[in-house]
Order: sequence, then structure tokens, then C-alpha cells
Amino acid sequence: MTDRARPRRFEPLPEWVQPATRLVHAGRLPDLNAGAIAPPIYQTSTFRYPAEYSEAAAQGHVHMYSRLSNPSVDGPSEVLRQLEGGEEARLFASGMGATSAVLLSLLRTGDEVVALETLYGGTTDLLEDLGARFRLQVRTVPPDAAEAPESLVRRGTKLVWLESPTNPTLTLVDLRRWAEAADSVGAVLVVDNTFATPINQNPIALGADLVVHSATKYLGGHSDLVGGAVVGPTALLGRIDPKYALGAPMDPFAAFLLARSLKTLDVRMARHNATGVQVAAALKDHPAVARVHYPGHHGPPEEALARRQMRGRGGMIALSLRGGAEAVPRFLKRLRLVQVAASLGGVESLVSVPAATSHRHLSKSQLAARGIDPGLVRISLGLEDPGDLVRDLSEALTASAE
Ligand SMILES: Cc1ncc(COP(=O)(O)O)c(C=O)c1O
Repeated sequence: MTDRARPRRFEPLPEWVQPATRLVHAGRLPDLNAGAIAPPIYQTSTFRYPAEYSEAAAQGHVHMYSRLSNPSVDGPSEVLRQLEGGEEARLFASGMGATSAVLLSLLRTGDEVVALETLYGGTTDLLEDLGARFRLQVRTVPPDAAEAPESLVRRGTKLVWLESPTNPTLTLVDLRRWAEAADSVGAVLVVDNTFATPINQNPIALGADLVVHSATKYLGGHSDLVGGAVVGPTALLGRIDPKYALGAPMDPFAAFLLARSLKTLDVRMARHNATGVQVAAALKDHPAVARVHYPGHHGPPEEALARRQMRGRGGMIALSLRGGAEAVPRFLKRLRLVQVAASLGGVESLVSVPAATSHRHLSKSQLAARGIDPGLVRISLGLEDPGDLVRDLSEALTASAE
């Protein structure tokens, strides 16, 4: 076997390096052809595969075909594995690709699933759809359920799916407590860590089995790629494989963009965190705002939980406009920097109206039960000057009340 065909091992890092350093150097493969510092994009569907490689191929030691593996995808996958603290990571064509691979790989007909009722809408829809077609018993619970997780997860529950902070009210759930409850009945706990990112929160360290990401959001960070990831133990990841189950691995160019973006994740999240705190504080007393939703803002127990399980609060914020649904168009029209669009986690600030977009399939009473009032706007704070964002939002809020 020639050297060229053998996938190389990542250059080892000292054990003592911090996440910011890991983001820059983890998943580094030496480029023996040109010594390039930025990794090349292996935009190839297939790889040379002479007969003498067959034994190594059988052991998974060579790249054969890009649905199965590709060096451009290996790098960012390794970075995420290290950042989330899992045994293995897999990258998918989208966050929903990752989510569907987990659900389709781990669940059987008749299984019981416990899920938060405020999950990302696509996840809720998929659970409902699979539930109906495969007779899953899907029980949904509010993030602020009065009952403790121990009484919500019961013998026979096979999988628990959580998000924290939740969408769109940025409510926190106690991941360690849920992990203990899931563990006590042998259920797999999956945490979608898209909103927090591994910079602000590590669900595996809190006891979760699997972490799922929409890499489209903060991990990509520039609103220019679509991708997903799953991180967790080898025993589970072996069953959740993009290459065979759904055939939806991340493509090399998206992986190249993701690798580039991950290098700045720590710096970007530090700014998102600082801006989030600043904007939440600046707008909470604005006369046009009935309520600011931000992690830790839903009472002292949540503030204590935020301190325990998060290192930063993130750049997602939601505002309940005092003027309700009627004030929303006036608010949106007056914004000059913040753009109206779905998605989140990019360098530019975006705003969406959950009751009219992501959560419009819910009835009025379901919206009310989830704290999504018609005047609620969800904002993904970008990397603009924080003072400029406060000014743009404040002026639009004032206009919303006119
Ligand atoms: C929390 C969360 N999880 C998963 C997804 C799905 O990811 P994607 O759009 O990359 O398929 C999204 C998308 O908005 C999301 O916000």
C-alpha cells in the first residue's frame, strides 16, 4: 500500500490544551503533497482502490467512496468529537439528517419516546410522523413540567429527546437530572445542543448519551452551509451511521466550510454571549417590551441551573412585545440592521416570529401553553457591534408602540 492511500492519523495535541486551542488544531492531517496549512477540499466521489488495498479496506483503513468516508469530513468531525467529549462523531447533510438517522437507527415499532413539547418544529413533526407510522408512543412534556423527570421517564421508555435552551422561549431544563432519570430505566438520552454549542454546554459531561447538532447554525456560523452532527459512544454511533442507513453524510465542500468556521467558534461564542447579556439587560425595561426571554431569566432556580450547566448564555433572545401581534409588523419594518429570516447562529443578526413561522402549526392554546404569545419575536444576535444592535432594536421597539 502506498502512503497516499492510507488515511492519516490526526496529529496529536497535548492533553492540556483548552477548547479554543483544540478548535484551531484538532483534526489536523499533515498535507504530504504541498504542506498546505488550510486543508484541501477532497471534492471527489471515489478514491483509488487497487486490489492490494482490500485487506485494509475490510478493516476500514482506506477511503473508498465519499458516501462512506472522505478526508475533508474527517477533520471537522474529529474537532466536534473532542469538543463535545464523545468517543465518536458523525457529520450529516443537515441537522434533520442527523436527527432522522438517530431516530430511525435506534427506535423500533412500539417503542416509547419522551420528548419536550418545545423542540425544534422539524424534530416534533418527525417524531409525530414516525410515531404514527411505526406506532411509537411519543409523550411530550413541557420544559417547565411541575413533575420531576424521574416521574416522567418510566420503565419502558427507550429514548428521551431534549433541547436546552429550548426554542423559542430559551427555557432551560436540568440535563443532569434528566440524564439520571433516563439512565435509571436504560433509556438513551439525546440532547440537541444547537443553541448552546459545545463552548457553552457539554451534555455528555452532564450524563447525556448522544449530542445532536444542526451545524447550519453556530458551528457553521456564517449562514453559508447546511449540516448536522451526532456525537456519542462507539456502541451507539456504530448504529447511527450516515453512510448506510440514510446515505446522508456531509459533503466535502460543506465540511471544508465547517472546518474553517470551527476554528473561530470560541471567539464567536464569546462575542455572542457578551452581546446576549448586554442586549437582554438593555431591553428588559424598554416600555414596549412585556418580557425578555433569555437563559436564566425565568426565575432564580433557572438562574442557578444556568450557572451549573452552562458556561455562557448564548446569543439567542426572545422579546414579548407589549403591543402583541399588531406591534410585530411595525417592529420588523423599523429594523435597519436585524434582518427578518429563519435560522440562527450566523454573523448577522436575524429575527423571526415563531407564532407565524416555526410554530404556526400549533393551536392558540398550544402556543399559550408553550409561552409563545402572538407578540413574541425571536432574535439571533450576530457579531455586529453590541451597542449598534441595542440601538437598532430599541428604535424598532419604540416604533412598534406608535
Ligand atoms: C435546535 C435545532 N435543531 C435542529 C434543527 C434542524 O437543522 P437543519 O436545518 O440543519 O436540518 C434546527 C433548525 O433550525 C434547530 O434550530
